[in-house]
Amino acid sequence: MKEQLEKIYSNATADIEKAVTVKDLEDIKFKYLSRKGEFNEIKKGLKNLSPEDKRVVGSRANEITQQLETAISEKFRVFYEQELNKKLEKERLDITLPGQYIPRGSVHPLTSTTNEIVSIFQNLGFSVAPNENSPEVETEYFNFDMLNVPKDHPARDMQDTFYTNVAKNVVLRSQTSGAQVHVMENQKPPIRIIAPGRVYRNENINSRKNNFFHQIEGLYVDKNITFGDLKGVLNEFIRIYFGAVRPTRFRSSFFPFTEPSAEIDVQCIMCGGKGCRTCSGTGWLEILGAGMVDPNVLRGVGIDPDVYSGFAFGMGVERLAMLKYAIDDIRLFFNNDVRFLEQFKK
Ligand code: PHE
Repeated sequence: MKEQLEKIYSNATADIEKAVTVKDLEDIKFKYLSRKGEFNEIKKGLKNLSPEDKRVVGSRANEITQQLETAISEKFRVFYEQELNKKLEKERLDITLPGQYIPRGSVHPLTSTTNEIVSIFQNLGFSVAPNENSPEVETEYFNFDMLNVPKDHPARDMQDTFYTNVAKNVVLRSQTSGAQVHVMENQKPPIRIIAPGRVYRNENINSRKNNFFHQIEGLYVDKNITFGDLKGVLNEFIRIYFGAVRPTRFRSSFFPFTEPSAEIDVQCIMCGGKGCRTCSGTGWLEILGAGMVDPNVLRGVGIDPDVYSGFAFGMGVERLAMLKYAIDDIRLFFNNDVRFLEQFKK
């Protein structure tokens, strides 16, 4: 029995020696030291020995199991440390390495100009019309008919307006003014909205004209709205947008949907009114179309022009951005040349 004991002991020691994983050690522990393990079998047989042998073999058995337990946990610790070191090595961070360069984008100048204009009007009490009241694909009904544009008006011509093949009367809107009609069909006065968005015109492209561009429409309808209100709001807008009081000029003009109508000029930003290339020598720059909402338009959407009046305006975002940032070619906005766009990083 003693021999058997020593035999198992040397087998177990050899096994521990060979173990290379934590799993190996667990298997060894199970094989030799568990309740069903080989030593327990021996211990069971002790009861058949003489008291003297029982004492000797028993204490040797205890000695051996203790040694094996120590050897196994020793090796466990070694494995654990090795594992930990491997992990630490793998997850090592060199905090002195320079960070990765991630190029930063910038907001497109037309977007930031639009945002700026929108926020000026919001501060003056206007709110942005719901998107669904300002679609880019329109019917002639909203783009022309309800805006009092005669059936034979040249703006309707294929030359100016992009007609689609969706249906005979479906166009890419040539102005944001259709938003006025949508809003007035959906809202009762008082109405005080702006509607920014893209418009399309069949133009020959050059440094001042593109076949799509952006406008911001404004509409204020309530009781007792006068041309004085129109002047006050637009002069205040110009003062805030250009950062100083600037001479303006309200020139009599014509739009089918406003009466009276005006085109509004601001004194040339480049030459201060002396006359230069930007203002074609006139000293003035046209930046806005506006006027009092035509009674026909109000009637069309079921608003009584004897009770209510209003003003409307429309401005070109490209124009305003070009003046503010001294940009001399509208195409720069759409070429997406990073060297141009990068200059507008905040
Ligand atoms: N829709 C006009 C244009 O595109 C501008 C405008 C808007 C004029 C509102 C008067 C009132 O030229």
